[in-house]
Amino acid sequence: MGFRKDFLWGGATAANQCEGGVNQGKRGLANVDLMPLGKDRYLVGTGKKKMYDFDQEHFYPALTAIDFYHHYQSDIALFAQMGFKTFRLSIAWTRIFPQGDESEPNEEGLQFYENIFKECHKYGIEPLVTINHFDCPMHLVKTIGGWRSRKMIHYFYKLCKVLFTRYKGLVKYWITFNEINMILHFPFVAAGLCFEKGENEIQAMITCVHHQLVASAMVTKLAHEVDEKNQIGCMLAAGSYYPETCKPEDYWQAICDNREVYMFADVQARGYYPSYALKWIKKRKANIPFEKGDQEILMKNTVDFVSFSYYSSRVSSSDLSKGKQSESNIFASAKNPYLKESDWGWAIDPLGFRSTINELYDRYQKPLFVVENGLGASDVVEEDGTIHDEYRIDYLRQHIQAMKDAVEEDGVDLIGYTTWGCIDLISNGTGEVQKRYGFIYVDRDNLGKGTYQRKKKDSFEWYKKVIESNGENL
Ligand code: BG6
Repeated sequence: MGFRKDFLWGGATAANQCEGGVNQGKRGLANVDLMPLGKDRYLVGTGKKKMYDFDQEHFYPALTAIDFYHHYQSDIALFAQMGFKTFRLSIAWTRIFPQGDESEPNEEGLQFYENIFKECHKYGIEPLVTINHFDCPMHLVKTIGGWRSRKMIHYFYKLCKVLFTRYKGLVKYWITFNEINMILHFPFVAAGLCFEKGENEIQAMITCVHHQLVASAMVTKLAHEVDEKNQIGCMLAAGSYYPETCKPEDYWQAICDNREVYMFADVQARGYYPSYALKWIKKRKANIPFEKGDQEILMKNTVDFVSFSYYSSRVSSSDLSKGKQSESNIFASAKNPYLKESDWGWAIDPLGFRSTINELYDRYQKPLFVVENGLGASDVVEEDGTIHDEYRIDYLRQHIQAMKDAVEEDGVDLIGYTTWGCIDLISNGTGEVQKRYGFIYVDRDNLGKGTYQRKKKDSFEWYKKVIESNGENL
């Protein structure tokens, strides 16, 4: 009983949120580099404000991030100390193809990730690689409008061909796109999409995501051709919606909201757009830009596993004025009076985690991989340098227990668990470092000041014991 023997315990990061080194290794500029700290971040992220170049007024946290670019060896050594079996990271597209459309890849970028993968294997850590985690070369945003253009499929395919070939034998777990449903909430981040005045925004988003879905299926096929050991996953931002009350209209709203969460993962996992999605799109006067052969590609190349992030459950209300999307909550939700919230207003709901895992398994019947879960909190470094983050331990303990129940009691096939931000990093939503998730503290403030030194928090030793005992010692 309990978790499977080869359960992949570990932690997760993303290139733009931890690497820094933006001007190094001949890297090009990406959309996420231009996401500023402060309130404009939300406007840029939602595609309402164009920020195609740096300006003097804003601070751009991704430029240095936590400087993983120069610290990866010692950081991976710390992950190994905790006993990580896997480490989730993403590829910065612009390290491999700085503009996105070059004919040859950049060797320095390829070497950088090769070094990381080899470093992981030194400790028996299996890399879990997100090919695209909120990352689009700025050159492609400026010249072809990011994922609006079907040409992106070609550039992405080329990137994947290089990655699969070069890292054959070093990487076998791949995720094509991070949080495929994020396009409906943070389109510039998810697809380099900026809206034109007066356009049908849903049409623009559906065009982008269709291109991503076709690209994802094409590279799933490619990955299997290059190495039959490759395992490809889709990834969605999960977290079930509860109805606010038992009023039928609230329940119906919850069904609709949940469908928006699953809509695109349904395509990746089941091979076709579900009928409710076709109606949803049509009702919004949009259409899917199908080309000949797309449907067959989608149908024949579904994913091997379904991965997802879970931070919190959400609440749907038929009163649509409740729970609008906001700077601190990218996913709109009414308040849940039964749950406590994090300092950033995210409801804490371990049982909701178990429900979400079960819903996903019922729906897809494929192995599941939890690739993000965690608590963003602001930590205090005591005078003696210790950091007592018992709130984080509490959150993780309860969520791991819920995950365990899903396995032991409900029979879900779960292959691994990577906590988000195993080392403190830049928050995607707010751009802060102060919203810390890590077992490892990074001495850097929101404005990039600090020594960038790493310190173990109390949760470090705790997680080590969890892994050692394969989740028995919580
Ligand atoms: C997920 C993303 O949406 O949530 C991560 O995949 C992100 O990139 C994480 O960092 C936590 O959100 P935030 O806004 O606290 O960083």
